[in-house]
Amino acid sequence: MKIYVLHGPSLNLLGTREPEIYGHTTLTEINQGLIDHGKACGADVVCHQSNHEGQLIDWVHQARGQAQGLIVNAGAYTHTSIALADAISAVKIPMVEVHLSNVFARESYRHHSYLSPVAIGVICGLGVIGYRLALDALIERQKG
Ligand code: DQA
Repeated sequence: MKIYVLHGPSLNLLGTREPEIYGHTTLTEINQGLIDHGKACGADVVCHQSNHEGQLIDWVHQARGQAQGLIVNAGAYTHTSIALADAISAVKIPMVEVHLSNVFARESYRHHSYLSPVAIGVICGLGVIGYRLALDALIERQKG
């Protein structure tokens, strides 16, 4: 099975970006961990990051017919992007929404997500582990 992992704006800066909130792990390390874990579980993990909403939407469209699961940390687009939610809804691929930080313990503008209604589940506040849990959930779900 193939899983797409999509990271949104400023997640390319992980490791140095507000480490007291997002931790010290870099995006490259996160992606490698997911690829390795996926391989051990028989899943092909493909990771992408973009600071551009349209590019994220294009990858969601591209996933149609290719991927059986999506893991999405859309960064701030989580709280603003109806377009990304529509794209996820359109492709009908199970999506798990992930946030490194506990968005509910932060500013109120982070409490609303346009993506949660089109997600099969949401993981937030567990740091890097959240991505791995999302991957495990999609793999388990695919097994039926
Ligand atoms: C984030 C939380 C968002 O509110 C923020 O805009 C991000 C990262 C997280 O992983 O905790 O960029 O998605």
